[in-house]
Amino acid sequence: MIKTSATENNITLEAKEVTIQFEGLTAVETVNEKLHTGEILGLIGPNGAGKTTLVNALTGFQIPTSGKVFLGKKEVSNLTPHWFRRHGVARTFQAGRLFREMPISENIEVAAISMGLGRRKAHAHAMELLEWLGLADRAKLPAGVLPYTDERRVGIGRALAMKPSFVLLDEPAAGMSDLECDEIMKIVSEIPSRFGCGVLLIEHNMRVIMGVCERIHVLDSGKTISRGTPQEVQKDPAVIQAYLGHG
Ligand SMILES: Nc1ncnc2c1ncn2[C@@H]1O[C@H](COP(=O)(O)OP(=O)(O)O)[C@@H](O)[C@H]1O
Ligand SMILES: [Mg+2]
Repeated sequence: MIKTSATENNITLEAKEVTIQFEGLTAVETVNEKLHTGEILGLIGPNGAGKTTLVNALTGFQIPTSGKVFLGKKEVSNLTPHWFRRHGVARTFQAGRLFREMPISENIEVAAISMGLGRRKAHAHAMELLEWLGLADRAKLPAGVLPYTDERRVGIGRALAMKPSFVLLDEPAAGMSDLECDEIMKIVSEIPSRFGCGVLLIEHNMRVIMGVCERIHVLDSGKTISRGTPQEVQKDPAVIQAYLGHG
């Protein structure tokens, strides 16, 4: 396991009473959550529940309208995505965002280089990650040739190449087949022990969520409606109602 200052200090990434409004629409309403290193937290809820917006606030992409974000004891609510990346908070996006003309390996190398690794070490690290992700045989191909399901795995590799303390994954299994979901579950479940980070996983596929998360936070219309273990959340009437209500 790669030791980071976070694993040694047991740092946390925290949303405290976070509210985010867009011109009258409250996308996130007084949400509290604290992500620890070494755990996998599931963030679920119907479309438009505010999941991505909350992740944006936890990664510097969105300044909360009110409430605060903390990394350890430091308030980081107004800091930039660049600052978050530099301080061990990495994320993936719902849609690829890879450099499409660049080889797959280099897409991961640039992330390692941006964290101060030399070219050779960055390449070795990228190859190690690609091996783990099951993409080593395609390392030299331009990222643009990959189907989007594989692109997602490169995105995970790129986030982990930053040696983060926390990695936030926005719907990594969306649109995947059962077999591809199994691969993603294996990858995600190995992240805490291999890399020492905490994982926040947004995902619609309940089999994936129930299979890898130790605890789950459920949002609906921006509000927390439930939280607990997969078993607790699954039988919570408020959760069942929220999903039924949204068809
Ligand atoms: N930049 C934005 N401007 C205006 N409204 C937004 C913006 N981002 C998200 N929203 C709205 O906020 C709500 C929550 O969106 P989002 O966080 O993307 O939901 P989820 O990821 O749970 O599907 C939605 O109603 C969405 O339309
Ligand atoms: Mg979303």
